[in-house]
Amino acid sequence: MTIAGLGAYLPERVVTNDDLAAAGLDTSDAWIRSRTGIAQRHYAAPEQATSDLAVEAGKAALADAGLGTDDVAAVIVATTTPDHMVPGTAPLVAAALGTEVGAFDVQAACSGFVYALRVGAALTVAEDAPVLVIGAETLSRIIDPTDRGVSILFGDGAGAVVLVPDANGSLGPFSLGADGRDPSMLWTQTGGTRTPVSHDVVDARTHFLTMRGGDVYRNAVARMTAASRDVLEQAGRTIDDVDLFVGHQANVRILDAVAQRVGIEAARCHVTVDQHGNTSAASVPLALADARDRGRLHPGDTVLLTAFGAGLTWGACLLTWNPSPTRDES
Ligand code: UT7
Repeated sequence: MTIAGLGAYLPERVVTNDDLAAAGLDTSDAWIRSRTGIAQRHYAAPEQATSDLAVEAGKAALADAGLGTDDVAAVIVATTTPDHMVPGTAPLVAAALGTEVGAFDVQAACSGFVYALRVGAALTVAEDAPVLVIGAETLSRIIDPTDRGVSILFGDGAGAVVLVPDANGSLGPFSLGADGRDPSMLWTQTGGTRTPVSHDVVDARTHFLTMRGGDVYRNAVARMTAASRDVLEQAGRTIDDVDLFVGHQANVRILDAVAQRVGIEAARCHVTVDQHGNTSAASVPLALADARDRGRLHPGDTVLLTAFGAGLTWGACLLTWNPSPTRDES
């Protein structure tokens, strides 16, 4: 299978580092830029939830592929900020797009899109039909605006791809991994079934996302490096064969450290974290769409994707950019 269409949606409202400081957060534009590379992020409007962002990206990807909703065999939404705990977000997205095909969420935090691509690729082959894979997040709703260690990092947005059957098989191999021994490294401690939401929970503010930044940083570098090396080894290729490296956009220092360890120079890396902040499961498809829009993707290019997130989870895959595949009708 291959990617036949790519779409992106960023909410209108742009929040700069200076806006956060002006709102009373004890931080500065200089600190945020130097520690993260982030200059701004987008926040959803009050009436928008994750499914609304996902629908916009999904429509754009379908239009880009020249396909309609009726052509799609399944809708997968990777998100860690669903509209509701129940039901999943994908059925809401599918309904808004006007289809009753199978629709389900993938929850692998910031690695969610790479996981969803893996699942979507398998479904595309099994169904021999297009599958819509969306990464969408409204992180602004789960961050504590008074927590300067977390709230400066995250933004909202959605990116989507349409996977279609393609005999040349230009997506893969994949490498996925998880280590759930210490979920507290990056989590929302309460609000789930272990500690349901209550007045005490809200008073303690533990329903917000919290993080041990240094531990997450070190693991992100190590895991994305290892997963990237693994897919190259599986494919029998080297980093010299990669035309563009698109990593999870969490922090430009993390991206630089991974790039340096896998041996790829800045000119072959695509960076959007400065403009989008960390959009979790949306970051990789948003970066891919941005690379395409800036003319950085050419037919036949080999692209290395990698991501890391809460769980811990991580993943990587290779893809050959081939947006107009010849369908195998045999
Ligand atoms: O998708 C995966 C999710 N998350 C990530 O990938 C994030 C991974 N972690 C990081 O990117 C970094 O750890 C951060 C950007 C979150 C923090 O950067 P750091 O260089 O690790 O800073 P630090 O946590 O060691 O803090 C250094 C200092 C502290 O002050 P003291 O104790 O040295 O006086 C913090 O209180 O910086 C302070 N600080 C801030 N100062 C101004 C922390 N956040 C801020 C802030 N503005 N926003």
